[in-house]
Amino acid sequence: MNLQVVLLLVLGFLSAQNVNGRKSHHHGHHKQHIKGYFEYSAINCRAHSASLTDFGGVGDGITSNTKAFQTAIDHLGQIGCNDGGSLLFVPPGRWLTGSFNLTSHFTLFLHQDAVLLATQDENEWAVIDPLPSYGRGRDTVGGRYISLIFGTNLTDVVITGNNGTINGQGTVWWDKFHKGELTYTRPYLIEIMYSTNIQISNLTLIDSPSWNVHPIYSSNIIIQGITILAPVRSPNTDGINPDSCTNTRIEDCYIVSGDDCVAVKSGWDEYGIAFGMPTKQLVIRRLTCISPTSAVIALGSEMSGGIQDVRAEDILAINSESGVRIKSGIGRGGFVKDIFVKGFTMKTMKWAFWMTGNYGSHPDDKWDPNAIPIVQNINYRDMVAENVTMAARLEGIPGDPFTGICISNVTIEMAKSAKKLSWNCTDIEGISSDVTPRPCDALPVQGGKTCDFPEDNLPIDNVKVQLCSYKANYM
Ligand SMILES: *[C@@H]1O[C@H](CO)[C@@H](O)[C@H](O)[C@H]1NC(C)=O
Ligand SMILES: *[C@@H]1O[C@H](CO)[C@@H](O)[C@H](O)[C@H]1NC(C)=O
Ligand SMILES: *[C@@H]1O[C@H](CO)[C@@H](O)[C@H](O)[C@H]1NC(C)=O
Ligand SMILES: *[C@@H]1O[C@H](CO)[C@@H](O)[C@H](O)[C@H]1NC(C)=O
Ligand SMILES: *[C@@H]1O[C@H](CO)[C@@H](O)[C@H](O)[C@H]1NC(C)=O
Ligand SMILES: *[C@@H]1O[C@H](CO)[C@@H](O)[C@H](O)[C@H]1NC(C)=O
Ligand SMILES: *[C@@H]1O[C@H](CO)[C@@H](O)[C@H](O)[C@H]1NC(C)=O
Repeated sequence: MNLQVVLLLVLGFLSAQNVNGRKSHHHGHHKQHIKGYFEYSAINCRAHSASLTDFGGVGDGITSNTKAFQTAIDHLGQIGCNDGGSLLFVPPGRWLTGSFNLTSHFTLFLHQDAVLLATQDENEWAVIDPLPSYGRGRDTVGGRYISLIFGTNLTDVVITGNNGTINGQGTVWWDKFHKGELTYTRPYLIEIMYSTNIQISNLTLIDSPSWNVHPIYSSNIIIQGITILAPVRSPNTDGINPDSCTNTRIEDCYIVSGDDCVAVKSGWDEYGIAFGMPTKQLVIRRLTCISPTSAVIALGSEMSGGIQDVRAEDILAINSESGVRIKSGIGRGGFVKDIFVKGFTMKTMKWAFWMTGNYGSHPDDKWDPNAIPIVQNINYRDMVAENVTMAARLEGIPGDPFTGICISNVTIEMAKSAKKLSWNCTDIEGISSDVTPRPCDALPVQGGKTCDFPEDNLPIDNVKVQLCSYKANYM
């Protein structure tokens, strides 16, 4: 198809649905046949496709589409990879829905004017078992509400769109959380478990009841071009939480939320230790974060399966509490090691650097007081920060220092209201080079040192997306 035809189709499509897309009545009395041509990038294109409207979907913001989604996906799921996989198209409209489950060799594609609205009816949310590496739900002991978009034991799953929206309508959940009225742990927007080859891209997620994107026990994951918006006072609305995952790439994301923008995890105390699945080979690039009460990138606090080989580069933080924060404590066990950060700009921060060795917060009283986390080989370089209240608060564990900390080429401009003490270091060991203001004595200057950042690619860097297209033809 040549470009002119594409443009004509797209223009025709736009006028057919009244430029004011989000508010118009696509499914009003005069139903119109709509055609459109869309391009998107994906790890795999699909041979088969259908629209949600083929399965009775109604995008009026009132009618429930839970059944339409599940029927559509169950139907498309019968098309295996040998048949070229399948795509479900969600047209412009407001699609109220409860949770639904994904399938393998499958793409969920949201039109840019499609909005999924998560139902606020608690009864529509199935309750599932706690995560084995957590032993209980994060909000309450026992089970947890299933996520809006859920997948387990899958391979080759794409959730994408030309910036379509998933709205968690989280206010009712935040109120219940604050009032202590939750029966089970709040749902997340997207959770993918025990899966491989996952792409989540080019979507806007707003007002999640709790965490936004939660890949767990999974590998080969690309998360790109995601905008995450939630009030900065909303409880635990973490952006992206890779949890016991291997080989993950998070790129070009913009996150404003009420908790950590990216929180790297691997299970909680004795449950995480027993499960023993680390998060490793993670790269985070070109992240913009606003998180006034939390970290830009948190490592932990649930890190009992271990966190290793995390690379973060080209990060912009605005008005956030801390940059890369290590959160751990006695009882966690596990490790945080081989962490590399370079190219980090921070504007208005409480702490540029923060490590915590006494985080507390245990799942129950069965945690092991001898489970001491190992924190070592942590590298930060090429950073500029302005309007910072305290440069660093680096607090290891007495008798178990955090070691191998390296900080080089860092300029921190303190706020007018800055604390007198700009570096406070206890139970840590390392070196520094070309850092202002002058670091604590625990980080003696080693002139000319450049902290490490790996030059090799992670396997996920070698995964290329291909250009795919979809021809919509729906009522
Ligand atoms: C996301 O959208 C951008 C801009 O349209 C495009 O260049 C990129 O390939 C897309 N990425 C993915 C993974 O969907
Ligand atoms: C989705 O999967 C979960 C876990 O396997 C299950 O509990 C739930 O009932 C499924 N939901 C639907 C609608 O099939
Ligand atoms: C999913 O995979 C996990 C880990 O391999 C396994 O324990 C579990 O039984 C599988 N679940 C299903 C529904 O196949
Ligand atoms: C996607 O939509 C969000 C919310 O409207 C907007 O802030 C963001 O800039 C959009 N992203 C792109 C790539 O158009
Ligand atoms: C120091 O860091 C800045 C970014 O903050 C970078 O532009 C510059 O190239 C770095 N200098 C060296 C010597 O690496
Ligand atoms: C500096 O940070 C304070 C909060 O700590 C904020 O009120 C102020 O507006 C910031 N100033 C600038 C120039 O960003
Ligand atoms: C420095 O850190 C230690 C350990 O976290 C703490 O006990 C102490 O109060 C801190 N000092 C200041 C001046 O903040």
